[in-house]
Amino acid sequence: MTHLYKSVPIRSSEITPKHVYLSRRDFMKAATVATGAALLAACAPSVTEEPQSAKPAPTSTATDELGDPVNTYEDITNYNNYYEFSTDKQQVAGLAQGFTVRPWTIEVGGLVNKPMTFGIDDLLKKFPQEERIYRLRCVEAWSMVIPWTGFTLASLLKEVGPTSDAKYVRFETVYRPEEMPGQKSEFYPWPYQEGLRLDEAMHDLTFLATGLYGEPNVPQNGAPIRVVVPWKYGFKSIKSIVKIELVSGEPSTLWNAIAPNEYGFYSNVNPEVDHPRWSQATERRIGEFDRRPTLPFNGYGEQVASLYDGMDLSVYY
Ligand code: MTE
Repeated sequence: MTHLYKSVPIRSSEITPKHVYLSRRDFMKAATVATGAALLAACAPSVTEEPQSAKPAPTSTATDELGDPVNTYEDITNYNNYYEFSTDKQQVAGLAQGFTVRPWTIEVGGLVNKPMTFGIDDLLKKFPQEERIYRLRCVEAWSMVIPWTGFTLASLLKEVGPTSDAKYVRFETVYRPEEMPGQKSEFYPWPYQEGLRLDEAMHDLTFLATGLYGEPNVPQNGAPIRVVVPWKYGFKSIKSIVKIELVSGEPSTLWNAIAPNEYGFYSNVNPEVDHPRWSQATERRIGEFDRRPTLPFNGYGEQVASLYDGMDLSVYY
């Protein structure tokens, strides 16, 4: 029954990859080439004056399993938390442009039977890429619905075989201050680190996203590969990972290290446990005006609540 755990798969007809669009600009160019000088003379609008922004981004009419539409490609790729580039969400996309995503390797080791280092293109070939529509609920109380492509973290972990001592998984983002201006700030203990309990990491919802809207992931969203854990606050979904390590004890995480009273290790979306500085009861869906109630486990309770049986989630926040 694991397929029930997945959110609504995206029908490929609902996502139109960017490359299938012929922008008006490209269309005009193509038309010019096709019909030659006659059109050139008759053609009123100047092709070269057509603004670059006229190129349409991919669109989608897909919804999540609760019936809410996916956010636009523009919203998803222009409103980002990625402190390695900037603390200003609207600056990240610009600063991340040109970030080097090839070559890229991911080292998977620690308490495993078969430590391995994977090149990103080998990973893309080895693991069939599937599509998942997930809600992302940031701890700052905004949210989006995002159509990802990628594969489960469990499928990767099964390749390396965690030993019986492995109880947690630790993730690390690339450290490259020459390309990531935010990493020059000494306030944060770079590289960004995150962690999951092994059973959380092995859960079918826990995803390694390599694409967005049917296209390769873009730097601002964590290219070439990032973790997505949809029932936890967004900061657990660590971007641009280069290292996955199986460990025996709870790993340190960036936000927990900076402010342990504000950001716990578990960080499950929980409308009943407020952040010390704001309520978590409601959220603003990007693209909407009214606030909406926040759902326990971000709406994935049926699938994941049993992972926390017997735990007081106001203590293990
Ligand atoms: N990963 C790294 N390496 N650095 C970050 O600053 N921000 C986190 C998370 N992953 C962050 C990160 C936070 S707070 C959120 S809400 C999500 O990424 C945002 O993901 P998005 O920009 O793809 O929507």
